Amino acid sequence: MGNIMTNRLDRGFERYQDEFESAALKVLRSGWYILGKELENFEKNYAAFTGSRFCAGCGNGLDALTLACRAIGISAGDEVIVQGNTFIASAMGISAAGGTPVFVEPDEYYQLDPSQIEQHITERTKAVMVVHLYGQTAKAEEIKAICDKHGLKMIEDCAQSHGAYAGRKMSGTVGDIGCFSFYPSKNLGCFGDGGAIVTDNEEYAAHIRQLRNYGSSVRYHNEELGVNSRLDEMQAALLNVRLSHLKELNEERKAAAAVYNAGITNPKIIKPVCREGAEHVYHQYVIRCSERDALAEHLKNKGVDTIIHYPIPPHLSKAYAFLGLKEGSLPITEEYAKTVLSIPMYNGITKEEQQTVIEAINEF
Ligand SMILES: Cc1ncc(COP(=O)(O)O)c(C=O)c1O
Repeated sequence: MGNIMTNRLDRGFERYQDEFESAALKVLRSGWYILGKELENFEKNYAAFTGSRFCAGCGNGLDALTLACRAIGISAGDEVIVQGNTFIASAMGISAAGGTPVFVEPDEYYQLDPSQIEQHITERTKAVMVVHLYGQTAKAEEIKAICDKHGLKMIEDCAQSHGAYAGRKMSGTVGDIGCFSFYPSKNLGCFGDGGAIVTDNEEYAAHIRQLRNYGSSVRYHNEELGVNSRLDEMQAALLNVRLSHLKELNEERKAAAAVYNAGITNPKIIKPVCREGAEHVYHQYVIRCSERDALAEHLKNKGVDTIIHYPIPPHLSKAYAFLGLKEGSLPITEEYAKTVLSIPMYNGITKEEQQTVIEAINEF
C-alpha cells in the first residue's frame, strides 16, 4: 500500500463520474469549444452562486489576478499591498500588470493583518490584494473600510476560498474584483487550467472580457493589447457539474477538519484556528511545528505524505530579489514558511486514512 497522499483528485472525479462524463461528451459532440454556451452558463451560475452581478472566465488564476489588476488601472510604478505569506501568483499578478507588490505581515490566522496596512500606504499605493489563504476568509470587510478611507481599490485572491463567506458576503464579493483559480486541486477544481473573476462593476467585467480575448470585443477589432486567456467550453461544462455540488463538498472538508481538530492532541502541534466571524473551507489543513522537517520525515516513514505551503515566501524568491528584501524583513511570514505543514485533506478522504494521519502525528 502506498502512502496516504496529500490530495486525491481521482476521488473527486469518481464521486460524480457519470455527471462529468456526460457533460464532457456533450461538449465533444457539440462542435463548439471556445467562448460558447457552456461558458455563458457557468458565468451566469457562478455570478449567482457568489452573489455578484458579473463573472468572466479566463485561462487560470494568475490571469484572473493580472487582468483584475489591469482592469482597476494598475500600471508601472503603482504599489499593491499584499500579504507576504501567499502563493507567488498573488504577487506575480500584480507584477504582470506592471505594478509592484508591497508585502506585509499576516495575522495568526495566516491572513492579511488589517493593522499592517496603513503604515505601508504611500502616494503610489493603488490597491490592496486580500488572499483568503488555505480556505479561511480574511477580515475582508475591515480591510475594505481601510481601502475606502484611503481611496484604494481592493482585489480578493480567492483561489483557495471558493464558497467561503467573509462575513456577510461571500469571499470575492467584498472588494472590487474577486479572482478565482480552478486548478484541479482547488475546492472548485476543473480538469486542466481555469480561472474567473467576479465583480459588480460592469465596466471591469466588460474590460476583462475584452482583455482575455486579444483586447477585442468585436471580432478583429482590437482596442488594446490583450491576451489569450479564455475558460474553454470543456472546463466550463465540467465546472458547472462541480459547482452544483460545491456546498456539500465544502461541508465534507469541514467535517474532515473537525476530525483532525478533535484527534490531533500532540502539544508540539499548532492546529489551524478559524477566527470568529470567518469561514474556513479547508482548501488545506495546515498545522505548524517548530520541528517541522523532522515531523514531515516521521510522517513519511509512517505512510503519510505532507507538503509545505509555502517553503519560500515570495519576497525571498529569486524572482523578487530585485525588490531587495532580505531575510528578516518579514519575520512572521518567514517563521510561517519554516514551520507550516499541510497534511492530507481532500474530498473523499476516509476516516481510516485520517486516523492513520492522526496517530502518526500524535506519536511524534
Ligand atoms: C492563492 C493563489 N493565488 C493564485 C493562484 C494561481 O492560480 P493558477 O494556478 O490557476 O494560475 C493559486 C493557485 O495556484 C493560489 O493558490
